[in-house]
Amino acid sequence: MKASTAADRRGPKIAPSILSADFADIRAQMAIVADAGVDYFHIDVMDGRFVPNITWGPKIIKDLRKLSPLTFDTHLMIVEPERYVDAFVDAGADVVTVHWEATVHAHRLIGQIKSAGARAGLAVNPATPLSELDEILPYIDLLLIMTVNPGFGGQSYIPTSTAKIAAARRLIDSRSLNVELEVDGGVHAENFAEVAGAGADTIVMGAGIYGTPDPAATIKRIRALCAT
Ligand code: DX5
Ligand code: ZN
Repeated sequence: MKASTAADRRGPKIAPSILSADFADIRAQMAIVADAGVDYFHIDVMDGRFVPNITWGPKIIKDLRKLSPLTFDTHLMIVEPERYVDAFVDAGADVVTVHWEATVHAHRLIGQIKSAGARAGLAVNPATPLSELDEILPYIDLLLIMTVNPGFGGQSYIPTSTAKIAAARRLIDSRSLNVELEVDGGVHAENFAEVAGAGADTIVMGAGIYGTPDPAATIKRIRALCAT
């Protein structure tokens, strides 16, 4: 049987977060989800300043780039992101998402990401209201709604996030903007349909995929939810 392609699938794109993968076996961990038909790899960069956890920098992304042609969706949870976006694009990031709360010059920073050759994403923490984004929204390629406080995988989805996702969907559509709506944090097979129904284009899942006994079966199960 021919493998399904992104074009024949229904439902949001799936972006496994490799934060929850076993890095001692990262080649196999990436292959398992790629073979199951995911769309992106979500790569969380943490600096121990913007968030209370540290992960990896451009060197790791450059090395991982050799393992997969899929979109590298790079989520920078770092202070002073303007100092590093070019290095992440050079390392192979296709999407570079920076936090609204981490910069006072979002417009300039979004331009910097695009000039470097990547798609520009903007992430917002749970406490940041969408109303703050009125001016910047037309300039970004992707809006990332955080549905946990950033810093760690495996946290619980904040229930009020569903209304925020739906509001973001309405905002994007009412202004006819070409902005991909991504959701990140605490999504698993049990609440995937709720998040998809609120209007997410892309859903990040860390523990919800890599924390399950059979990640490939979990992805199939999620796809089946969207097949009807
Ligand atoms: C949290 C990260 C998320 C995280 C998601 O700070 O930005 O991408 O890996 O993990 P889960 O899906 O386990 O909440
Ligand atoms: Zn993330």
